[in-house]
Amino acid sequence: MSAATADVSRSALVNGPAVHPERLAEALGLLPVGLHVVTAFAEGKPAGLLCGWVTQASWTPPLIAIAVGRGKHTHQAISDSGAYAVNLLREEQTDIARVFGAKSGRDANKFAGLDWRQGRTGSPLLEGTAGYLDCRVTQRHEIGDHSLFVGEIVQAASFAQQCLVYQREVHQSLFVE
Ligand SMILES: Cc1cc2nc3c(=O)[nH]c(=O)nc-3n(C[C@H](O)[C@H](O)[C@H](O)COP(=O)(O)O)c2cc1C
Repeated sequence: MSAATADVSRSALVNGPAVHPERLAEALGLLPVGLHVVTAFAEGKPAGLLCGWVTQASWTPPLIAIAVGRGKHTHQAISDSGAYAVNLLREEQTDIARVFGAKSGRDANKFAGLDWRQGRTGSPLLEGTAGYLDCRVTQRHEIGDHSLFVGEIVQAASFAQQCLVYQREVHQSLFVE
């Protein structure tokens, strides 16, 4: 492909017609994600949300990136504390996933009935999960309607060999009331 052709196809990708919303939703619904409860501790209270957009970003130093909607209650707690923990749910912990994914901490105490303790950064670590990554925020980037928080892992543990993996197109019923 010549340089000119490459430029044309790149510009078609950038300036082409908007992606059809249904095609977009179907394709994104195929993306497998782990379901994790991302927590933070601020103003003397725990906060947490269900987070699928979590990825390792570096080995040395060990970095994890999470994308959190700027309107979320937990976004404020991460911003205030400068830290967060990624709690990796076990395959069978779908009830916890529903609680943390369906309600906002502004309206409900999502930690009621759960055992948790504060990790090294102060972020809540849920008992009984498959593992956790306790992180201190090192960078923040504003991306679309989310903030990408990059965190250095300061403490980590795993207690199981599998965690809860989700594909919206496959697990349609998981978050239906
Ligand atoms: C399967 C699933 C994955 C989600 N992933 C994310 C995510 O990666 N980032 C995000 O900001 N919200 C995500 N959410 C939405 C939040 O978990 C949800 O809005 C939550 O109620 C926000 O709680 P908060 O306001 O207490 O922080 C997800 C929800 C579901 C059902």
